[in-house]
Amino acid sequence: MKNLIESPLWPALKADHETLKKTDVTDLFSANPSRFDDFSVKSSGILLDYSRHRMTKTTLGLLADLASMANLSAQFQALFTGKPVNTTENRPALHTALRDASKKPLTVSGENIQTTVENEQIRLFAFAEAVRLGQFVSASGKAITDIVNIGIGGSHLGPYLTTTALKDFANTKLRFHFLSSIDKAPLNDVITSTNPETTLYIVSSKSFTTLETLTNANSLKAYLQSQGHTDIFPKQWVAITAHPDKALAYGFPPEHIFETFSWVGGRYSIWSSVGLPLALMIGERGFRDFLSGAHSMDEHVKNTPPEKNMAMLLALLSFWHAHFDQATAEAVAPYSQRLQALVPYLQQAAMESLGKSVNLNGDTLTAHAGPVLFGQEGSEGQHAYHQFLHQGTLCIPVDFILIGRPHEKHNGHHHCMLLASALSQAEALTQGLSTADIQAKHPHLTKAQAAHLVLPGNRPCNLLLLDELTPATLGALLALYEHKIYAQSVLANINPFDQWGVELGKQLLPDILTALEAPTNPNEPSSLLTHLKKLRGS
Ligand code: F6P
Repeated sequence: MKNLIESPLWPALKADHETLKKTDVTDLFSANPSRFDDFSVKSSGILLDYSRHRMTKTTLGLLADLASMANLSAQFQALFTGKPVNTTENRPALHTALRDASKKPLTVSGENIQTTVENEQIRLFAFAEAVRLGQFVSASGKAITDIVNIGIGGSHLGPYLTTTALKDFANTKLRFHFLSSIDKAPLNDVITSTNPETTLYIVSSKSFTTLETLTNANSLKAYLQSQGHTDIFPKQWVAITAHPDKALAYGFPPEHIFETFSWVGGRYSIWSSVGLPLALMIGERGFRDFLSGAHSMDEHVKNTPPEKNMAMLLALLSFWHAHFDQATAEAVAPYSQRLQALVPYLQQAAMESLGKSVNLNGDTLTAHAGPVLFGQEGSEGQHAYHQFLHQGTLCIPVDFILIGRPHEKHNGHHHCMLLASALSQAEALTQGLSTADIQAKHPHLTKAQAAHLVLPGNRPCNLLLLDELTPATLGALLALYEHKIYAQSVLANINPFDQWGVELGKQLLPDILTALEAPTNPNEPSSLLTHLKKLRGS
C-alpha cells in the first residue's frame, strides 16, 4: 500500500475521528475504569501511557489494521535483517546490530558484521579502560584528566546527551568537553579550561570531511603546536570514522583510529565507537548495559503486534494526529534536568529522517512525513512554551517523560514536585476549562474576558515513565524513538536514512567564504555581504 490515505480503511478512520470529536477524554475515562490498563504498555523499563488521546478500542483496532496494511512488521524485519532500506544510498541501516550481543551472524556485502562489530568493541573498550586506569599516558607521561570530543550532528549529540544524562553513573574523575559549533567561542573555552598535557582529543566524524569538525580539529592542533606542544598530536588524539583511510592521511596512527561503519547513520551512531566518551565515563559494563537496554527495546519492537508495540503505537498516533488534527508539530518534555539534551538529539533523529517531501517513488507527498519536533526540560518548558500547548490554535501532541525513582536518595520533595508538575500539565491538557466552568467561577467577567480563560482540553499527550534513569533505560528510550521514527517513515512511504537536503548549503559555503574573506571592492553593489565585510573591517 503506497498511500494509506487511499486505503479502504481511511473512511472508517475518518468517521471514527469525527464521532469522537463530540466526546471528551474525561468521559472516556469515566465510562471505562480500566482505560489506563487498556491504553498503556510496558517494555524494557519504560511504561507508555497513551490513554489521554481522544480514542477508543475501535480507533486502536483501526490503527492496528493500518499498520498491517503498511506492512509495518515486515518492514521492521527488513530493517533488522539488513535489507537495503536506505534506498537512495543502496545500503542497510544496521544500528540495531551494534547492540545485539546474541552473536547471530549477519552478513553485509559478504562480511559477517557481528564479528566486525565485536572486534571493534573489544578495541574500543580496551582503549577506554587504559585511559580510565591511567595506563594510557600523555606525551609527557601523565594520566588523562580531560576529554575533548570534536564532532557535530550525530558525532556530537549522542555523546553529549548520554554523558549528560548518565552523569550520576560516572565511575571516573575524567572531565568531558564538547566542541561542535564552528563558532570560536567554545574553542576558546576548551583552551582555557583544559591542560593540554593531560587532555585526550577525540575527532569524531563518520565522513571525516565535515567542515566544522575538521576546522575545529585543525585550529586546536595548530594552537597546541603554537604553544610548543609539538608531541601531543597524534599521541593524545584519536579519530572515530567510517573512513579510516582519511584519518590515516590526516596523520592518525592505525591504533588511534576506531571505526563506525557506512551502514550506521550518523544520527544512529551513539551505539558505535562514536560512543567513546560514554564508554570513558561509565566503563565497559555501563556501556554494555546501555546497549542491552536498546537491544531489549529492539526485541520488543520486532516481536510485538502493533496494538501492543510501543514504537508502532507512537508512530500510528503521530500519523493519525497529523492527518486528522493537522498536528504539524510535536513537543517532547522530559521532566529531568539530566535529559536536557534529549530534545536536540531527537530533533536531529526525527527531523533529518522525516524532513522529506517525496515518497520512495519520488512522488510528492500529500502530507508531511513527520512533524516539527521541539521541547525543553519540563519545568522550564512550562514557563516558556506550554501556554501555546494549552491555548494556541494548533494541536500539538506532547510526550511527557518521567523518571519513577530518582537517582539521589534524598530527593523526595523535589522529585514529587517534578512528577506532580508533569501530571498536572497532562491533566490540564486533557481536562481543559470550559466557558461554563469559567462563568460559574467568575460570574462577573464579561464574555470577552471569560473567553481568554478558556482552555479547549482534549489535547493529546503520551506519558513515558522510565522506572529509573539508568544506562539501560536510556538505551531503551533512544531505541524506542529511533523505531518510532522508522515506523513513521514506513507509514509515509519515505526513506528516513538519507539527508540530501543538507548538501547544497555545504556546497555553497566555500564561494561565500572566499567572498567574505576577500578585500572589499568599492565597486561592489551594496548587499548584506558588503555590510558584513564593513563590520568585520575587511
Ligand atoms: O550535515 C548533516 C550530517 O551529515 C549529519 O547527518 C551528521 O550526523 C553530521 O553531518 C556530521 O557528520 P560526520 O559525522 O560525517 O562529521
